[in-house]
Amino acid sequence: MSKTIYILNGPNLNLLGRRQPEIYGRDTLADVERQCREVAAGLTVDLRQTNSEAELIGWIHEARDKAKGIIINPGAFTHTSIAILDALNAFEGPVLEVHVSNVHKRESFRHHSYVSLRAEGVIAGFGVDGYTLAMRRMVMLVK
Ligand code: DQA
Repeated sequence: MSKTIYILNGPNLNLLGRRQPEIYGRDTLADVERQCREVAAGLTVDLRQTNSEAELIGWIHEARDKAKGIIINPGAFTHTSIAILDALNAFEGPVLEVHVSNVHKRESFRHHSYVSLRAEGVIAGFGVDGYTLAMRRMVMLVK
């Protein structure tokens, strides 16, 4: 069985560290990847980012055969995409949802998440530390 955890990131997260740093901080996705590897406890981290909903759904389908768990920050698709929820529902392992910012402190359209209907746990507002916290939790869930 695979020991890989997919850490999937949606639109605009390629700009993490440069985009609105007052909200999202200064760490990049490359920093996130390194930090998650440090706490992976023998699991393999496969971190990806796309601006395409179709590509994100394709990766979730791929995870059915290749990943033990999924950590996902779907970006704005969180609030809009029933298709991503459906794809996650077709994945059998644990799913953890991460948001860098505290979405509940922001505009009301960010308060609803389709993905939260599927996720075992949700972290929001811990900055990029949310990813490593989710990774620590994932280690507990899959071991
Ligand atoms: C986000 C929050 C979303 O509302 C937003 O669209 C993002 C990033 C976060 O990590 O805080 O792109 O998912």
